[in-house]
This record gives sequence, C-alpha cells and structure tokens, in this order.
Amino acid sequence: MKVVEVENYDEMSKVAAKTIIEKIKQEQNVVLGLATGGTPVGTYKQLVIDYKEHMTSYKNVHTVNLDEYIGLKETDPTSYAYYMKEHLFNDINIPIVNTHIPSGEAVDTGKECEEYETLIDSLGGVDLQLLGIGENGHIGFNEPGTSFHSKTSVVKLSDTTRKANSIYFNGLEEVPTHAISMGISTILKSKQILLLVSGKRKAEVLYRLLTEDIKEELPASILRKHPNVTIVADFEALSIVNEKQLVLS
Ligand code: PGA
Repeated sequence: MKVVEVENYDEMSKVAAKTIIEKIKQEQNVVLGLATGGTPVGTYKQLVIDYKEHMTSYKNVHTVNLDEYIGLKETDPTSYAYYMKEHLFNDINIPIVNTHIPSGEAVDTGKECEEYETLIDSLGGVDLQLLGIGENGHIGFNEPGTSFHSKTSVVKLSDTTRKANSIYFNGLEEVPTHAISMGISTILKSKQILLLVSGKRKAEVLYRLLTEDIKEELPASILRKHPNVTIVADFEALSIVNEKQLVLS
C-alpha cells in the first residue's frame, strides 16, 4: 500500500483527478468505480475543469458507483444518483447509459444486488476504484463487522454513518436506515484502488488503518492485502500518523 502525502484537500483532489485522467487516456473502455460523500467532490470538480479545458473524452468510459440509499428516488437531491449527475455526469460527455448506480427504488432489492454484481463482471471488472473511508473504517457502506467475503448487498447503516451523513438531510430521522452497497470482496476485485483521506476527522481511522491488524471490525484494513492501493492523504488526515512518527513505506 502506497501512501502519498499531500498538503490539503485541494491538492488531494488534484492528485486523484490526475490519476483518473491518465487512466482514461491510457486505456480504451475504462471502468471507473466511483464514490460519493464529501471527499470526492473536489476530485469531480477537477475532472470537470479538465474536461472543459482539454476535452478529455468519457465516451468510452463506464462507471459503477459504490452504493445508494434504499428508499430514495434518483430524482431526490440526497440520492447518490442525483449527486453523481450534479457533481460529474451532467458536465462531461459520458453517455448516461454507461453510468451505473444500484437502484434505491428497486422493489426486489436482492435481485438488484445480484444484477449489480453480474453487471460489474460483464463490464470486465473495475479498473480503478475511487474510495473514501468512514470514521468507523467503513468502505462503501460496509460497516464494521461486515464479512470480507461480502458481495453487493443490502446493508444497515450504523449510527455513526447516519449521523455523519445527516448534514445532507433535514435531520437525522430523514437519513435512510439501509443502503445497497458493493461488497468488500467486490471492491477488492478492482484492479487498482485509490483511497482518498482528508481532514482531522479522519486522522484516527487512518492511523488505525495503517497500524492495526487486518480485521472485519475495521473494514478498510483489508485493503492492505490488495496489491495495488494508493492512499492520497492530506496533512490533517496524517496528523496522528506523523505525530507518532510512523514510518510509511
Ligand atoms: P465522506 O464519507 O467523504 O463524506 O467523509 C466517506 C465515507 O463515508 O466513505
């Protein structure tokens, strides 16, 4: 696992966007795994700036998102389907049929999950997966305790996650209790993973990720077993790591 230390959120976003753009330019028909939340907003902003300046084409790019809340329509401003259009898809030339997010409106959620796994496989798997990390160590919406063998499934959101995400809703009670999330084994099948970590709020979990045993109680810890993971973290996120003088490889 490689750790790239950057000064701040802005720099993290630029490094992430550059990695994505290079991948798109290098390979035809790239499959990007995309994340939502506060962390990747700056990355998407940089991709849009680059698109406007250099016309990097997304015509042959396919995307699969990590997760979606159950019960929200895709037109709901708090859904991740809406988020992706708002922050990226509306502003680049990606064919909307190439973009995939689990449906939070699915009646048969089990079938939706199975079809999502099949879809990822039929695209040939994810070439580059963008990830954030929850304060509790979750990746996607795979909360502590989730099996490392999990596939795309319906997950119950933890209190910490619902509280952290309540800033996007009118209060905690409006935050959905469940979501569909790519599983941990699904995430691990990605050929390359880029984990973005920014801010003091993430300093403790980043320190834990780099020092604790690999265990299901800390879902992100399994990333240490993946052969191609780069963590891009800013000074604030690395504050505990640096304070403890942990030597990064
Ligand atoms: P955040 O969420 O980017 O909003 O901090 C990350 C996550 O929960 O995975």
